[in-house]
Amino acid sequence: MLIFLVGFMGCGKSYTGRTIAPILDFDYVDMDKIIEAQEGTSIRDIFAEKGEDYFRQLEHQYLLNLDKKQNLVVSTGGGVPCFFNNMEIMNEKGITIYLNRSKDVVIPRLKKGMHKRPLIQDMNDEELTAFYDAKLAERATFYEQAQIFAGNANAEDIIKMIRKRNP
Ligand code: S3P
Repeated sequence: MLIFLVGFMGCGKSYTGRTIAPILDFDYVDMDKIIEAQEGTSIRDIFAEKGEDYFRQLEHQYLLNLDKKQNLVVSTGGGVPCFFNNMEIMNEKGITIYLNRSKDVVIPRLKKGMHKRPLIQDMNDEELTAFYDAKLAERATFYEQAQIFAGNANAEDIIKMIRKRNP
C-alpha cells in the first residue's frame, strides 16, 4: 500500500512521514529528497537553473513510476497535488492524507526553512502571510481531493485514521 502525505509547505509532511512509516512497518521517502538525489543538486538550484516546469515534470514522473504494490509512505512536495492529474494518480495508487494544519502552526515553520524553499525565499513576514493566504486559496481545491483530512492530528492519531480506513 502507498500512503501519500499532502499539504502546504511547512505542514510537517516529512516529519509525519518519518514518524509513521516505521510504526506501520513501511518504507519512507521524501519526494523532494529523491528528486535532489536524482538530479544531484538542491530544489533551489533546480528551480534557478532549469525552472519550475522542469521540476513539476520530475515530480509527475516520480508518481507515474511508483509501484503501488510496495508498502511505502511518501511525503510529497507542497505543489505536487496541484499539477497535472497528480491527485488522481495518488488517489488511484494509494491513500492520500491532507495535513490541513492551522495557519498559526504553518507560518512559524515556514519562517525557519525559507532559504530552502524557492517560492518564498526572499519574503518578509507580511509578504509571507499574504503569499500563504493566496496560495492556499488557490491550492485548497487540489488538497481537498485527499481521502483523509488530518487537521492538526499528531502521528499517533494519523495512524488510527489510516487503520480505520484500511483495517
Ligand atoms: C513547493 C514545496 C516544497 C518543494 C518546492 C516547491 C511548493 O516542498 O517541493 O520548494 O510548490 O509548495 P515542501 O512542501 O516539502 O516544502
